[in-house]
Amino acid sequence: SPSVGIIGWRGMVGSVLIRRMLDEGDFGHISPVFFSTSNAGGEAPRFDGVEFEETTLQDAFDVETLRKLPIIVTAQGGDYTKEVYPKLRAAGWDGLWIDAASTLRMEDSSIITLDPINRDVIDAGLAAGVKEFIGGNCTVSCMLMGLGGLFKEGLIEWGTAMTYQAASGGGAKHMRELLNQFGAIHDSVSAELADPASAILDIDRKVLETQRSGVDDSQFGVPLAGSLIPWIDADLGDGVAKEEWKGGAETNKILGRGENRAPGVQRRGDAIPFESLCVRVGALRSHSQALTLKLTEDVPVEQIESVIAAGSDWAKVVPNEKAPTMEQLTPVAATGELTIPVGRIRKLEMGPEYISAFTVGDQLLWGAAEPLRRMLQIAVG
Ligand code: HSE
Repeated sequence: SPSVGIIGWRGMVGSVLIRRMLDEGDFGHISPVFFSTSNAGGEAPRFDGVEFEETTLQDAFDVETLRKLPIIVTAQGGDYTKEVYPKLRAAGWDGLWIDAASTLRMEDSSIITLDPINRDVIDAGLAAGVKEFIGGNCTVSCMLMGLGGLFKEGLIEWGTAMTYQAASGGGAKHMRELLNQFGAIHDSVSAELADPASAILDIDRKVLETQRSGVDDSQFGVPLAGSLIPWIDADLGDGVAKEEWKGGAETNKILGRGENRAPGVQRRGDAIPFESLCVRVGALRSHSQALTLKLTEDVPVEQIESVIAAGSDWAKVVPNEKAPTMEQLTPVAATGELTIPVGRIRKLEMGPEYISAFTVGDQLLWGAAEPLRRMLQIAVG
């Protein structure tokens, strides 16, 4: 079985990836070589029931070792990719690079991998010798895993996504910070909360004091617990947050639409205008988004629902009623699940081609680890 270098397996995305690979028995098809940026020569990880030939951690910065591998999978992060990838190519390596980081995502030489939605694009790229397969932005991948059917059927004229993104999108430290903020806020009013007769406006004032001066917000920059942050990722300087730009750019690249396509990938139509306004909320690891879509034609709601359900094996339509929405269409319901619930589907006042939808996805599963895991399986055949 082919040797596969695995880098960044200890981090949050990497750990979810390894867990999924174990669950699916993927290690039966590869010989993993684990790398480390800090502990080369140490012991590679061990897992019950799987034996690895290479039990020593290799140096993740050693190009000579890396270049012997036909496939490398990394969840180490963008800085690592920036540093090591060009050196590896310069050293003549012509293996397959499967990466969670955004560094190479919009390069002409790469394909954004989300095979339940763009297997045709992936296969065309592989046939044409494309070597860079990059996981998409989490919000984009989760949106397409839910609504991909409508895109595949050419039913979307344009769309907007108003997002509600979880702390995990920032990283493990951000999740801790959010939880510590919740704790600090609770601590500041726990006595009053224990007394049912205390005045709620006094509690409210104390909470605000704590939020404004008493919580560690070194990761997010401002308090998130009990608040929200309507800006995600870099300021592109034109009023657009980088996360918002990714929404349109990556969606179209994944679908093979517009101009940004890898070699061998035929143009599958014009780019679909897709706009976002991205907001960080106090959810832990599932991203939600409210969509407004203009369809290319007036399609009955039942048909829209069946196209969505048929779009991927993981999309699941939630009836647009209160009880199932509350039970199935929340970050708490979606976390840890591969199923992507899509609900709140209805026609809007603006006209018969306008619909709303709401979808939630685990930011670490379809949003990060799962597309990489599946790409590796495709690569090893
Ligand atoms: N940029 C995303 C976020 C996560 O901050 O939620 C990575 O795709």
